[in-house]
Amino acid sequence: MTTPTADETALAALRERYARAARNAASGGCGRCPPDPADGVGGCVPCLPDPADDVGGCGRCPPDPADRVGGTGYAAGELADLPLGATAASLGCGNPVAIADLREGETVLDLGSGGGLDVLLSARRVGPRGRAIGLDMTPQMLDLARANAARAGAGNVEFLLGRIEDIPLPDASVDVVISNCVLTLSLDKPAVFAEIARVLRPGGRVGVSDLIADPSVSEDRRAACPQAAGAAASLTGPEYRAMLAAAGLTGVEVTVTHPAGPDLSAAIIRATKPADAPPYTIAAMTAAHAPQVLAIYQAGIDTGDATFEATAPDWAAWDAAHLPDHRHVALDRTGAVLGWVALAPVSDRCVYGGVAENSVYVHPDARGHGVGRRLLEAVIASSEAAGIWTLQTGIFPENTASLALHRATGFRDVGIRTRIGRHHGRWRDVVFLERRSTRVGTD
Ligand SMILES: C[S@@+](CC[C@H](N)C(=O)[O-])C[C@H]1O[C@@H](n2cnc3c(N)ncnc32)[C@H](O)[C@@H]1O
Repeated sequence: MTTPTADETALAALRERYARAARNAASGGCGRCPPDPADGVGGCVPCLPDPADDVGGCGRCPPDPADRVGGTGYAAGELADLPLGATAASLGCGNPVAIADLREGETVLDLGSGGGLDVLLSARRVGPRGRAIGLDMTPQMLDLARANAARAGAGNVEFLLGRIEDIPLPDASVDVVISNCVLTLSLDKPAVFAEIARVLRPGGRVGVSDLIADPSVSEDRRAACPQAAGAAASLTGPEYRAMLAAAGLTGVEVTVTHPAGPDLSAAIIRATKPADAPPYTIAAMTAAHAPQVLAIYQAGIDTGDATFEATAPDWAAWDAAHLPDHRHVALDRTGAVLGWVALAPVSDRCVYGGVAENSVYVHPDARGHGVGRRLLEAVIASSEAAGIWTLQTGIFPENTASLALHRATGFRDVGIRTRIGRHHGRWRDVVFLERRSTRVGTD
């Protein structure tokens, strides 16, 4: 038997927590409270009251029931004729249906749909020509949501079992993605945002309520808290913005609505998939992409104008040389890699901690479709979110396409390093470029 990873253990605990909440709501209780009396908190407090769960005061247990995050933002009339099972099970921190400005005939996807309240409200707004789909990883929540939909007589709804990091829907199949207090729980948020961008139709919208960490939350505090716990796991507003932008979404707005616990606030997040979005998505690179990443690298090497390297390294060497959080791939509809971008550290010296060297390579068949630009924008967004202030790169003067691409994304020519190295028997110049962030390290 293999030992579960820390992420698998955290996910199983999360699923069990929501299974308990669903069972409690299904038996006429309130979804927000674990029903076990040993948990010691009566009433509908949206927390895990087991003190062992609240390591280091991570903000998961607002002490005052008035601080609760569940079921906020709904007008009383809006909920009046919905089954009690749906309203009582609400575990959200806002009203994404109101944020999303739904229209008749649209297809809406609710990520982490729980007891189904927002799906039922969406179904009403999009009408019989539209469709509201709920996605949840907890089977007991799906049972509860389906029972609530049957009680509400909603015919245009559907509930799917699955994870928000791997949405079981085709590309460009949804007009609007909503979610209520769920994305903060994900252990792989870049994957969630990439999936949102993939399933949205061009011009589609995101309207999400979520918890965000207050900017003042310290790194120590984040590190001390377990994964998926309050402010430890939540993104700050700037991080949220950067990750949505890295996934290719535009018009990102993050608006704080109310405090939701120590170091935590509830927020409304809006974004749009550009109407002219290309038929590929940007996603975090994983080891599964390695063969294609290295093949694209080799194709670049073979042009003779991309790098001094003669052959692509093996994956272990490539992996060791690049920063784990700043590797992105462009994927077509079949999941094939069209290009990649990655950062490598430039120095061990602390003073250069915010400086990294970027490489970007595009498959020969995918050139001329903006893939390189989208990849560079993704790595600029992820690096700025991580506090990296300068990206630098060296490009052969003959590689005019790469020079134009870098200049178009804010790189400036620092100068030409003359006859800096021998390449296939001839001395070559390299144009040295850098991009100094105007958002990071500006104090
Ligand atoms: C805080 S509750 C919110 C439920 C619902 N959105 C609401 O407002 O009542 C979180 C829900 O998201 C689901 N969930 C959490 N992480 C998930 C993941 N990675 N993939 C799919 N569902 C997830 C849980 O099973 C649970 O039903």
